[in-house]
Amino acid sequence: MKILVLGSGAREHAIITALLREGDAHEIVAAPGNAGIAADVPTVDLDASDPQAVANYALAEDVQFVVIGPEAPLVAGVADALRTRGIPVFGPGKEAAALEGSKAFAKRIMDAAGVPTGRAVNAATLAEAESTLAEFGAPYVVKADGLAAGKGVLVTTDLAEATAHARHWLQHGDVLIEEFLDGEEVSLFLLSDGHSVAALSPAQDYKRLLDGDEGPNTGGMGAYSPLPWLDERFGSEKAFVDEVIDTVALPTIRQLAAENTPFIGLLYCGLILTSKGIRVIEFNARFGDPETQVVLPRLTTPLSTLLFAAATGTLGQAPRPEFAPDVAVTVVLASENYPGSPVTGRVITGLDEALSVGASGLSGTGLDGVTVMHAATDRDESGDAPVIRATGGRVLSVVATAPDFGTARDRVYGALAGIGLEGSQYRTDIAARVAPAAAPAPATGTAGGAA
Ligand code: AMP
Ligand code: GLY
Repeated sequence: MKILVLGSGAREHAIITALLREGDAHEIVAAPGNAGIAADVPTVDLDASDPQAVANYALAEDVQFVVIGPEAPLVAGVADALRTRGIPVFGPGKEAAALEGSKAFAKRIMDAAGVPTGRAVNAATLAEAESTLAEFGAPYVVKADGLAAGKGVLVTTDLAEATAHARHWLQHGDVLIEEFLDGEEVSLFLLSDGHSVAALSPAQDYKRLLDGDEGPNTGGMGAYSPLPWLDERFGSEKAFVDEVIDTVALPTIRQLAAENTPFIGLLYCGLILTSKGIRVIEFNARFGDPETQVVLPRLTTPLSTLLFAAATGTLGQAPRPEFAPDVAVTVVLASENYPGSPVTGRVITGLDEALSVGASGLSGTGLDGVTVMHAATDRDESGDAPVIRATGGRVLSVVATAPDFGTARDRVYGALAGIGLEGSQYRTDIAARVAPAAAPAPATGTAGGAA
């Protein structure tokens, strides 16, 4: 099957890596990709968010299946343009993608479907925002309504800061003031064919920039899967997943189907496990990044089979997703000044050593159990020798699988120690809470070899 994967991040690199693991069964093309993806599969210079350009390319090149990675093409209607032309696509149409693109739409669907979530008020003016902040009290949760690449959300106990955040985002549209929900966060991915769902293994994301969950919110600085503490709380991972399917995923999918906007793609449930039960904090309409980088390496069922079944309304007949008992940890290497205005264009060193082509022949496979997914990189051939440059905020997602979290952490941080990017930053505490206390903690979060 000829598969086109849209996107250019570490999530797409992880999707492609999982598809390549199936062997030679598929011809995979990526658009636009990045330096790491381009080392694995052919890439095409295509605007992934241009519905006509993508549909024309897919028709001209006999693409049989399209997998959409990021939210922007979904919200732009790329899936609709492909479906209209009869090309199977994994990713919801524009209207269903509003589940992610508009927090107000998501809240309306949750209300209609009876899905448990926090109280929220949509504020169109500063006066409304201020009165709601006063009513809900601290800690304050203020969210931009549209897509804001993970930066539109502020959680703070400082009223002045909350008010300033609301004032800023009100220039771009409505803001949502939410009740603060306290508890563990879980990211659960469900494949949906529009009427039924199949869950993947849960993961936990680290949203804050700094160790100890300090600093600003980011797109995600690291993740691990599975979540061993779910067993204690729910009896088993399956019991937890079944509860989310029954109380969150299926009601949401059915509501969207009833509104003639069926959700075909990845329903990402961002959950908080409060003392009163499971609550949704957000839906996304696509795989999470960096959670995908720890979920897909553990998947033993062929990914293409699952995604294609979802795209063609046959999830009920497809095999259930199965996962290896191995655990996975990923740590994100980010540019200086991320998530503000990241410094880009700098050369990444040490990739050859950390990522020398391994037995699988894939670009990012080197050290035992370690893969490096590229998030924002470009290959620069203008000098004497080609170099890889950082082109964005989150640059690499270093992933390790292992029989236990202590070993996975050792592997991830061992690989990171060899990678250099001037001014770069990463968290040192990813998955530390699930690793044995004896696991050595790395001394610094600054990437080595930066001279
Ligand atoms: P979101 O983009 O909506 O997922 O929000 C980003 C992060 O902000 C979440 O992962 C949470 O850590 C935090 N957050 C969002 N909404 C809430 C809430 N209602 N209560 C507590 N924390 C929240
Ligand atoms: N890691 C959070 C997200 O993908 O939205």
